[in-house]
Amino acid sequence: MKRIIINGGNTLKGTIKISGAKNSAVALVPASLLSDEKVTIDNIPNISDIDNLNEILKYLGASVERKEDRIIIDPTTIENKAIPEEAATKLRASYYFMGALLGKYKKATMYFPGGCPIGARPINLHLKGFEMMGAKIMQEQNKYTIIADELKGANIYLDMPSVGATINIMLAAVKANGTTTIDNAAKEPEIVNVATFLNNMGAKIRGAGTSTITIKGVKELHHAYTEVIPDRIEAGTYVIAGALIGNQLKIDNIIPEHIDSLLEKLKEMGADISVGVDNVIVSKTDRLNPINVTTLGYPGFPTDLQQPLTTLLTKCDGLSTVKETIYENRFCNAKYLNEMGANIKITDKKIYVNGPSELVGKEVIATDLRAGACLVLAGLVAKGTTTVKNVEHVLRGYENIIEKLNNVGANIKLDEI
Ligand code: EPU
Repeated sequence: MKRIIINGGNTLKGTIKISGAKNSAVALVPASLLSDEKVTIDNIPNISDIDNLNEILKYLGASVERKEDRIIIDPTTIENKAIPEEAATKLRASYYFMGALLGKYKKATMYFPGGCPIGARPINLHLKGFEMMGAKIMQEQNKYTIIADELKGANIYLDMPSVGATINIMLAAVKANGTTTIDNAAKEPEIVNVATFLNNMGAKIRGAGTSTITIKGVKELHHAYTEVIPDRIEAGTYVIAGALIGNQLKIDNIIPEHIDSLLEKLKEMGADISVGVDNVIVSKTDRLNPINVTTLGYPGFPTDLQQPLTTLLTKCDGLSTVKETIYENRFCNAKYLNEMGANIKITDKKIYVNGPSELVGKEVIATDLRAGACLVLAGLVAKGTTTVKNVEHVLRGYENIIEKLNNVGANIKLDEI
């Protein structure tokens, strides 16, 4: 088991360069197999979720060349086989192989995906989309076999703007006969990144980034190039670190518009931030106002940032609240913040954070990726030493987190027990 040990209290100063977005890259890699020729993707983050997806691609017979942040995938040698349970359950995004294999071969055999234990996370909307396009779904326990004689364009309304279902339906629809429309689609920037990549291959997708996406099926897809957009959640996490304990900490190589909802909340708190074209510079302030946050799909406040933000809320002067509307189980971090000295009342869908609190170093557990990020931030600002256990979760989503933080003055290390 890996753990992160932090000696807290060091001011963070300098520049953190943000990597490619995990939640884009984990869709772009499976999307590659739809191409009939080699594809190249730049700015791929070096995180374990990508390693696990590459393993699945290689298992299927693709050639995967990785050099620094570039990946070249040759899918022409793929054989459509059932993806083993162990590989599928290592991460959530393995579910994108369902849409991609179904789109290309009209058949996919996959297990229910893994991912952080932050709620039930059903995939009914993905499956509903495939069925509406003419696929049949056979389920034996956790194993799904999805087959279509012909995939036909369909009008699909999502009961909820699910990121995964929107992307998976796009993947299945790019080579279908006819036109597919997704209504109430998710609008996250990662969806635009995937649609752009597919269009570079010759797909005909319009409307990505809005709530109606139209996909006109094509027969063939060819070689293509794309770049992964900057990770808005990684960027947001380090901006919060700067507001906690930064001195002119520069978060660089970002698209500030993608974190507008966070920046607006930080301004409401009275944080010291200045927003550039592709960066944010942020410093700690003496006093922060309390705020209320409700998580929503993009462009609302991202659920993935509410846990890291909670660390900062412990420093606000008064009562802040966080209402979580996307997942049922995303407050596990709050219990550990309380052990470190925070004053947080936890209810089912909402937490009440009474600040300001002095945090002290403790041994805590990363129950999921963003809970882990929250606790690392807490360790950076706490008095004494914080040990965050179970940090495999954190390493799934934050490239070089140890180096990036040490480079700006933190005292943090990774070790294995
Ligand atoms: N939902 C359903 N049925 C479905 C699909 C989703 O009820 O078929 C529900 C979910 O249970 C949840 C809501 O819809 O309540 C939204 O889920 P969504 O499908 O949008 O989430 P996801 O695709 O599973 C992605 C990210 C998450 C991020 C969410 C929301 C990936 C691999 N994961 O998950 O990222 O929280 O979108 O933005 O892209 C993370 O990075 O820490 C993370 C959890």
